Formats: sequence, structure tokens, C-alpha cells
Amino acid sequence: MTHSSPSAARFLDACFGRAVDRPPVWMMRQAGRYLPEYREVRRNVSFLDLCRRPDLAVEVSLQPFRRFQPDGVIFFSDILVPIAAMGAKVEFGDGGPHLPEPVRAASDVDRLHRFDPSAAVPFTGEILAALRNAVGERAAVLGFAGAPWTLASYLIEGGGSRSFAVIKQMMGRDPETLRRLLDLLADVVGDVLSFQIASGAQAVQLFDTWAGELTARDYRAWALPAAARAISRIRLSTPHRTPVILFVNGCAHLIEAMAESGADVLSVDWRLSLREARRRAPGLALQGNLDPGLLLGPPEEVTRRVGDLVAETGGRAHIVNLGHGVLPETSIESAAAFFDAVRIGTTEMLKANG
Ligand code: CP3
Repeated sequence: MTHSSPSAARFLDACFGRAVDRPPVWMMRQAGRYLPEYREVRRNVSFLDLCRRPDLAVEVSLQPFRRFQPDGVIFFSDILVPIAAMGAKVEFGDGGPHLPEPVRAASDVDRLHRFDPSAAVPFTGEILAALRNAVGERAAVLGFAGAPWTLASYLIEGGGSRSFAVIKQMMGRDPETLRRLLDLLADVVGDVLSFQIASGAQAVQLFDTWAGELTARDYRAWALPAAARAISRIRLSTPHRTPVILFVNGCAHLIEAMAESGADVLSVDWRLSLREARRRAPGLALQGNLDPGLLLGPPEEVTRRVGDLVAETGGRAHIVNLGHGVLPETSIESAAAFFDAVRIGTTEMLKANG
């Protein structure tokens, strides 16, 4: 097979389980601090201003595209941008996000509201439209949002957490308030992703980063219905079926339940083998699952492991990615080895096999 498809088509075909000339590849958090050109832009602007300035956000979204030619270009933003638009105070310090007025009671949920994305976060639409123009068919442009459970955990905990004690306490003691918050977030996420699709996103990813902290039973009771509600809102408001990718970090115990969310692609972390994920979620395309920590080692090992990963897909629908975001300490050489192993390595492997 010498003919190769445009990258956007390759990406979308893989999402829908159709045959591709080679697996598409991109990297979660591919725009960010491991890139010197990102750090240069960030020297002069705060993180939230960077998210809100289309010229700068487009520039940093394109930085990894210029260096590595991934098949997907995710727009630069953050899962907490819609949370700020709902009326919550959000700050970004060196220690990550901080929400100084966390949700602890029903009256705190009353203060949060839905919004019209074209009025409240118009810059997200501008960034996506500009990216579509800039990359054409050379890559699929990806939108994203945090999934309701993960967004609720930031709102309730007031920032990152190790134990998720406050949200789990609310689960037990004030389930009505938590349910109301999750429903509200599902509607906001549905609205935001529909707007991103209307603005130019060709596929969207839901980041349910912290849902892996739940037991399978609580995932089914809390995080899954909220994610499913957001996904069904997207289906209702978009004329064409746009692929939805669902990511959960630490999903080994949840994969069967994730398959019931309505997503087209499941993004799995490195604690679960692709073979097992395939067996337990037949019929859905997969994404992942290289350990981001591997990119801290030598590039030759990255090349070997990506080769093994592609071999493990056995030619079935797969999007090569990391199992979670790239770490800021990653070297450019290892990141390049990751992309090259798929773009160049797989093509050579396929040629060698005739
Ligand atoms: O390149 C891309 O993937 C697009 C950009 C993107 C960012 N955040 C930029 C960012 C995406 C997709 C996100 C998603 C996000 N944000 C998630 C889900 C994905 C995941 O990694 O689990 C979460 C949990 C957040 C919340 C968040 N934002 C945290 C916990 C932090 C601090 C930790 C960190 O990595 O610094 C952020 C800040 C953030 N978001 C940065 C970037 C590039 C670093 C900000 C900086 O420049 O200082």
C-alpha cells in the first residue's frame, strides 16, 4: 500500500472503525511546557489570557503541528474555561488550578448558570475556525471539554485533590445537590462541545480524568450518566455524527461501563493492555496508551515501544496517543521519536510486509 490518505480523513476513519493506511497519531497536552516555543509565548502572558487570545492560542496550538505533523491538532484551552463562564472564580497558579469559592451546598449550585458559548466564550469558536483554515486536510481539528464528574471535582474540591474526600462526602450526604450539579455540568458540556463542532472541530474529546477514582458501581451511578447526558446533547444538536472520544485516567475497572456512554472512541491509559481493552470493549475504536513516563527515557526505547503498540493493535481501528498528558520534563527528541515511529516507522513496516 503506497497510497496515503489526508490526515484529517485518516483520523476520522479510525474513529469510526474504518480501515486506514496507518494509525493516526496525536498526543494529549501536545501544546505545552515541554516545548521551548510555548514557554517563550507564556513568558509574556498569563495562562487564562493565553486561552482567551485567539492569535496566541492558535499559535501555541500550531507549535506541535509544525514540529511533529500529528494527525490531530487540539485547540489550546483548558477544561476550566467553561467553569469560569458559568460564574465560578477560577485562578491558575504555579500549583495548578485554584477555585477560591468551592461548591459545598445547594445554594452554591444556584449561583452557577448555563451560558451561550457564542456570547460567553466566543474566542473558543474563533480559535477552532482559524485552526481549520490553517491546517486544511493535513490534520483533524479537535475540540474538548472536561466531563461533568471531573469538572464537579474541581468545583467541589476547590482545585486538584488526592483523596477526593469532599466530593465523595457530598455523594454520601447530599446526593441531590451533587446530582443537580452534574446535570447542570452535562448540559453546559453538551452546549460547549456543540458550539465547538459548529465552529470547526471535527472530533471532540471528553476528559474524565478523575473518574478512575470511583468504584465501578459509583462510576455507573454518577460519572457515566452525566457523561452520557452530555454526549446525547451533542448528538441532538449536530447534524453529522461527529466522533466523541472518552478519556478516563485509570480506567482498567471501568472500560465496559465507558463503552455504554455513547462515545465512539475510548481513550485508555497504560495500566490496561490494548488486547484486554479490545476484548472488553468490542466494536469501539480505541485510543492510547503509551505511558507518558516512557518519553522521559531514551528516544530509541520510545521507538521500540510505539512499534510494539502498533503491532498490538493488529491493524484494528486505533488512534496512537499517550495514556495521559505529556509531562513537562519530556525531551523534544523523545516526543519526535513518538510521532516519527508512527508516521514513518509504520509506513516502512507496512511496505516491508508488502
Ligand atoms: O495541548 C493540549 O492538549 C490542549 C490544551 C489542554 C490544556 N489543558 C492546557 C494546559 C488540555 C486538553 C487541557 C485539559 C485539562 N486541564 C485537563 C484534562 C487532561 C488531563 O491532563 O488530565 C485537566 C485535569 C486540566 C486542569 C489543569 N489545567 C491542571 C490540573 C493544570 C495544572 C497542571 C499542569 O499541567 O500545569 C492546568 C494548566 C494547564 N492546562 C497548562 C496547560 C498547557 C499549564 C499552564 C501553564 O502554561 O503554566
